[in-house]
Amino acid sequence: MARKILITGGAGFIGSHVVRRFVKLYTNDQIFNLDKLTYAGNLENLRDVESSSNYTFVKGDITDTEFIRNLFETHQFDGVIHLAAESHVDRSIHSPMDFVMTNVVGTVNLLNAAKGIWNGNYDGKLFYHVSTDEVYGQLGDEGKFLETTPYDPNSPYSASKASSDHFVRAYQHTYGMPVKISNCSNNYGSHHFPEKLIPLMINNIMQKKPLPVYGKGENVRDWLFVEDHAAAIDVIFHQGKIGDTYNIGGNNEWKNIDLVKFLCRLMDTKLGRAEGESEQLITYVTDRAGHDFRYAIDSSKLMGELNWMPSVTFEQGLEKTVDWYLANQEWLNHVTSGAYQSYYQNMYSNRS
Ligand code: NAD
Ligand code: DAU
Repeated sequence: MARKILITGGAGFIGSHVVRRFVKLYTNDQIFNLDKLTYAGNLENLRDVESSSNYTFVKGDITDTEFIRNLFETHQFDGVIHLAAESHVDRSIHSPMDFVMTNVVGTVNLLNAAKGIWNGNYDGKLFYHVSTDEVYGQLGDEGKFLETTPYDPNSPYSASKASSDHFVRAYQHTYGMPVKISNCSNNYGSHHFPEKLIPLMINNIMQKKPLPVYGKGENVRDWLFVEDHAAAIDVIFHQGKIGDTYNIGGNNEWKNIDLVKFLCRLMDTKLGRAEGESEQLITYVTDRAGHDFRYAIDSSKLMGELNWMPSVTFEQGLEKTVDWYLANQEWLNHVTSGAYQSYYQNMYSNRS
C-alpha cells in the first residue's frame, strides 16, 4: 500500500542520500523532505530527483510547533525518518543552545505531532530516529560500542542527540508509539559539507591550504560510506524490529593523521602532484575541547538480523568521494562562499 513518508533534514549530507534512495526505490510511496535549509542544507544535493512525481520538498523548521502540527495534519504521514539536526561538534562547543533547540526541542515537536495525528492508532505507523555513536561517549584503545553500551555523551552535540534518543524511547514506553533508533559512526561521501574532516581536507588539498589536524592526530574514528548508511536506514525502516536500536558502523577504524596522509597520497595521484607534496600542508593545531579519543561500532546485530553489510571498502569509497569532489567543484564553490569563509576564519584563526 502506498505510504506517505516524511524525511526530515533531507537536504543535508546523509538526508539527501536517504531521500534519493527512497524516491528512486519506493516509487509507490510519497516522499516528503522537510528541511529548514540551514547552512548545511542545500537543494542542489537533490537536483536529480527534484522533479520526481513521488517527491515533495517542504521548507520549514522542526522547532516551529504550529507549523509542524499543521504539516502533519495536512499530510497524515505514515512514517517519519528523522535526520534534521545540528550535526557539527565544533559548532556545538561554540553555540550549545542551537543544538538544544533543533536536536532536542525539534525532535519532541515531531514526536508530539506524530502522536497527535496517529492518536493511539499505530497500525502501520513508525517514527524512526537517526542518531549517532557519540551518545555512547568515548572508548580507550580496546572495545566497541554495542546497542547495550550505557549512554555517556561528552560534547554538547552528543548530549543533545542522547537527549533526543531518550525522548524517542520515552514516547514508545509512555504512549506506545512505534519507534526505531539507529546509532551510526562517522560517515563520508559526496555532498558532505566541508566543515567536517574528510571534505575539509579534500577542499584544502585542492586549494593547497594548510590541513588542520587537531592535537596530535591520534584520535580514532570508524568511517562508513554514506550510501551504506542510507542502505542501513532503508533496511531498518522496512525490516527492523519495532522498539529496537541498531548500531551501524564501517568496521573501519582510522587514526586521523593516518587518514589525512592517506587522502594526501590519493589526491597527489589524482591531481598529478609530486608524491608527498600535499602531506607538507599538514599543520597540527590546538585540540578540540573535550575531544573524544576513539569511537568504534559493533554492527553485528544489524548484520546478523537484517543481513546488511557495507558495499564498498574504504579505499573504494574514498576514491569515489574524491572523484565526486573533483568533478563537482561548482558545488564546493557554492557552499564555501560567503558564510563559510567567516565560519572558517572564526573556527580556525585561534587554533594555530
Ligand atoms: P547535516 O548537518 O549535513 O544536515 C542536517 C540537515 O538538517 C540540513 O539539511 C539542515 O538544513 C537541516 N536542519 C537543521 N536544523 C533544522 C531545523 N531546525 N528544521 C529543519 N531542518 C533542519 O547533517 P548530517 O551529517 O547529514 O547528519 C544527519 C543526521 O545523522 C543527524 O541527525 C546526525 O546527528 C546523524 N548522524 C550523522 C553522522 C555523520 O557522520 N555525519 C553520523 C551518525 C549520525
Ligand atoms: O561519530 C558520528 C559523528 O561523526 C556524527 O554524529 C557527527 O555529526 C559528525 O560530525 C562526526 O563527528 P566527528 O566530530 O567525529 O567528525 P569531524 O569530521 O568533525 O571530525 C573527525 C575527527 O577529525 C575528529 O577526531 C576531529 C578531527 N578533526 C576535525 C576537523 C573538522 C581535525 O583533526 N581537524 C579538523 O579540521
